[in-house]
Amino acid sequence: MRLLPHTTIPTYLVDSQTEANEALTQELSSLLASSDGSATLGLATGSSPIGLYAELARRQRAGELSLKEVQTFNLDEYMGLTPGHSASYRAFMSEHLFAETDIDLEKTHFPPSDESGLEAACANWESLIRAAEGIDWQLLGVGRNGHIGFNEPGSPFDSRTRRIELAESTREANARFFESMDDVPRYAVTMGVGTILEARRLRVLAFGDTKSHILERVLQGEDDKSIPLNALRGHPDAALYIDAAAAARIG
Ligand code: GLP
Repeated sequence: MRLLPHTTIPTYLVDSQTEANEALTQELSSLLASSDGSATLGLATGSSPIGLYAELARRQRAGELSLKEVQTFNLDEYMGLTPGHSASYRAFMSEHLFAETDIDLEKTHFPPSDESGLEAACANWESLIRAAEGIDWQLLGVGRNGHIGFNEPGSPFDSRTRRIELAESTREANARFFESMDDVPRYAVTMGVGTILEARRLRVLAFGDTKSHILERVLQGEDDKSIPLNALRGHPDAALYIDAAAAARIG
């Protein structure tokens, strides 16, 4: 793993996804050890974090760490899915992390996803994060268009948790989790860019060639405020972990 020179956000080029997963698991272990295991974690979905969650589960089974005392806040959730839908982000987290570890489900939180009373529920969600004294460690993936969570391009950098209309390219990228394109929700609720920026550490995983164009623009281009990932340029403790395919266009 090596820190790339001259990037707008600190970026580690990893030899493999495994290397990134091990580094982040190690960092999380240290964080948990320094806080009696009671850290507040922000969690992400998508393909990128699957290996990290598997590594966390492995380390927990081996008795090397425990997630019993952690509180988790997921970045986003689709709207309009039936409860328990297999493509919901709660189902994803259950499959890849929650059911595989000693995590206390009562301490896991997802943004509200019901249309009714949504504004108040989003404000309440923000209060829950504040009541937990903020997020210590936030994991992020990045969309091909530079979205973080489901903050699509043009999301203000001070935006808060809210409903958002998904970009067509995002719906297409996520269609693999649904039976057909028509089944892919058009709306989701996402933590805002401003909400995400308040986390004390931000860690981004980006793997594969579909991320190479957006990473080139963000890591070596102009500070285009319409690209949500660019918001991390101003964060005091943000880092990206990218593989060779994702780094292909970075000189
Ligand atoms: C979805 C999620 C994002 C995630 C993105 C990238 O759109 N809402 O939080 O970062 O997918 O997914 P992947 O890791 O599969 O490329």
